[in-house]
Amino acid sequence: MVSYKELGLVNTREMFKKAMEGKYAVPAYNFNNMEQLQAIVNACGKSGSPVILQVSSGARKYADSTLLRYLGQGAVAMAREAGYQIPIALHLDHGDTFELCKSCIDSGFSSVMIDGSHHSYEKNVELTSKVVEYAHKYDVTVEGELGVLAGIEDDVSAAEHVYTQPEQVEDFVKKTGVDSLAISIGTSHGAFKFKPEQCTKNDKGVLVPPPLRFDILEEIEKRIPGFAIVLHGASSVIPEYVDLINANGGKLDAAVGIPAEQLRRAAASAVCKINVDSDGRLVFTAKIRETFAKNPGEFDPRKYLGPAREELVKMIMDKNANVLGSAGRY
Ligand code: G3H
Ligand code: 13P
Ligand code: ZN
Repeated sequence: MVSYKELGLVNTREMFKKAMEGKYAVPAYNFNNMEQLQAIVNACGKSGSPVILQVSSGARKYADSTLLRYLGQGAVAMAREAGYQIPIALHLDHGDTFELCKSCIDSGFSSVMIDGSHHSYEKNVELTSKVVEYAHKYDVTVEGELGVLAGIEDDVSAAEHVYTQPEQVEDFVKKTGVDSLAISIGTSHGAFKFKPEQCTKNDKGVLVPPPLRFDILEEIEKRIPGFAIVLHGASSVIPEYVDLINANGGKLDAAVGIPAEQLRRAAASAVCKINVDSDGRLVFTAKIRETFAKNPGEFDPRKYLGPAREELVKMIMDKNANVLGSAGRY
C-alpha cells in the first residue's frame, strides 16, 4: 500500500471547493509519456494552476502501468524542484472495474473515476458505491458518471448522447457518496465531436457546433447545489493545430470541438473539472509533422518530441489562463 499523501499528491476535494467558490475549473490533462507529463507540470507550474494528471486504462496498457504511475508520482518532486507549489492530483480516468480502481488506490493514486455509465442505473449505483466505500478509507476522492457521451469512450462507443437525467443526480450522489459527477450535456471524446451537418459555418468558414445543453446543467445545479460537476470530452480541437496537421501531410477533415466560450461558461458554473486529452494529442502531432516536413532527415526523437513538448506548454498555459480560468488560483 502506497499512500499518495507521502508522495505529496493531494485528492481533489480542496481543489474543487476552491474552484466552485472562485468560479473556474481545474484542468485535468491526460498523459501517456514523459514529454506530455513534463509539459503539463511545467505549464501548470508556470500558470500557477492546480492540476489533475489523468491516466486512462489505455495509457496504462501503452506505457506500462507501473512506469506511468512512477512518472505521475514524480511530478510533485519535479514541480517542487522547479519552485512550483501547485497542488497536483493523480487520477484514474474512466476506471471500469472495482479491481482497477482498487489497484490504483493501493498504488498511490489520489483520485479515481469509476465509470459505470454504460451499466443500468442500479448497477452503476452499486459499482460506484463499492468504489467509494473503499476509496474513502484512504481519503481518495471518487468521480462517478451519469449519462453517456456520444462517440468512443475507451472500447465502448455510443451513436447518440444519452443526456444526464437531472431527476437522477440527487439520488445517485446520495446513494453512492461520490465526490464529483461527470455528466453528459453534449460533449464527446476525440477530435470529431460533431458531424459537419450538425454545424453551421461562421464568416471565416469555420464549423460552429450546436451549443451544449446548459439547460440540463442548470437543472442539475439546482438539484445538487454546490456539488462538483465534471465535463469530459471538452477539447476545443483548436483549428490552428488541425490546420498545421493538414498543411503537413495530415488528413483531419471536419474535426470539430467545443468552442472556448462554451467552456468558459461551464467553468464559471458548477463545472469544477474539465478533461482535455485530444487537444494535447493534436498539438503533439502538429509539431512532429511540422518538424519532419521541414527536416525529413531528422531521426533524433529529442529533436521532434522537444518542439512538441514546448508547444504543449504554450497550449496548456493559454487554456488555463483564457478558458478554464485556473491560472494563478492555487
Ligand atoms: O476519455 C478518454 C481519454 O481521452 C483517454 O483516451 O483511452 O485512448 O487513452 P485513451
Ligand atoms: P477530449 O477527447 O475532448 O480531449 O476528452 C478527454 C476526456 O474526456 C478524458 O477523459
Ligand atoms: Zn473522458
